[in-house]
Amino acid sequence: MLPIVEVQNLRKTYGTTVAVDDVSFSIQAGEIFGILGPNGAGKTTTVESLIGLRQPDRGKVRVLGLDPQRERTALAQRIGIQLQQANLADRLKVWEALDLFGSFYTRTVPWQPLLEQWGLAEKRDTAFVNLSGGQKQRLFIALALLNDPEVVFLDELTTGLDPQARRNTWKLVQEIRAQGKTVVLVTHFMDEAEALCDRLAIIDRGKVIALDRPAALVRGLGLDSRVIFESDAGVNLADLRALPQVNQAIQNGQRVTVYGKGDGLVSGVVKELEAHISFQNLRTEQPSLEDVFIHLTGRQIRE
Ligand SMILES: Nc1ncnc2c1ncn2[C@@H]1O[C@H](COP(=O)(O)OP(=O)(O)OP(=O)(O)O)[C@@H](O)[C@H]1O
Ligand SMILES: [Mg+2]
Repeated sequence: MLPIVEVQNLRKTYGTTVAVDDVSFSIQAGEIFGILGPNGAGKTTTVESLIGLRQPDRGKVRVLGLDPQRERTALAQRIGIQLQQANLADRLKVWEALDLFGSFYTRTVPWQPLLEQWGLAEKRDTAFVNLSGGQKQRLFIALALLNDPEVVFLDELTTGLDPQARRNTWKLVQEIRAQGKTVVLVTHFMDEAEALCDRLAIIDRGKVIALDRPAALVRGLGLDSRVIFESDAGVNLADLRALPQVNQAIQNGQRVTVYGKGDGLVSGVVKELEAHISFQNLRTEQPSLEDVFIHLTGRQIRE
């Protein structure tokens, strides 16, 4: 089957800034595909090259088999876009926005059901400026779906939303896919990528540094799990480090973090502790995409 999106050796510079150095990936129909990376990594430049808003210096880009530069008008009818810097005129009412955007397309879905689906029915006559952050985001999603697109590009959809609104938005993204659409999700949130994406490309400094399913990325690197606890008694780190499943043990004030792998890690640590000292608040953490990023780059995603 033809991929929905195909990118080969994409490069884009702005003067002396190399925004996208060398990016390749392809996206299959029905996927939620993530483009994940820190601020300035080149995510927006990549995605805007896919939708014909930026002209690449080099490389091949195809979306639905079309060249986004030469066939931009045809492509625009078949894709949905929510841009990172999206904004509307303050006084524009919700229904007017839908009406206006609908006029750009040769074919649209009726917008009343869209408003209901995205929880905006009661806001039909509300001016854009008077919508909450979450409502604005939902309006942008509704606008992106107006032409019943085959593929939807969402750039930093949940930035600026509170945790509850973010989770609600995640459900909406899953609903878009459930309607048979392909979703390209740009984010710098690790948890969001992990929760939503079937596959993702981690982009750093204009390059793809990892490309796979989130779980496979985490498992593939064989990263350590962590056992974390607090203790006000003296902890013998050497004894913990001597356990067969343990790779490292670090103390920071009362907080001790033990790194290791294997089924016996937690029980081994607990047994050792119970024999010698009192401890509180013991919990375990599995390796996450955050750890993958740190492992690959030596940096936190936000620094
Ligand atoms: N129009 C432009 N003119 C000049 N430089 C630009 C332009 N757009 C982006 N850049 C630069 O290109 C690099 C990549 O920017 P881009 O917006 O693609 O990153 P991003 O991964 O989307 O970042 P963020 O997470 O902050 O949205 C950055 O160094 C940025 O400053
Ligand atoms: Mg961006």
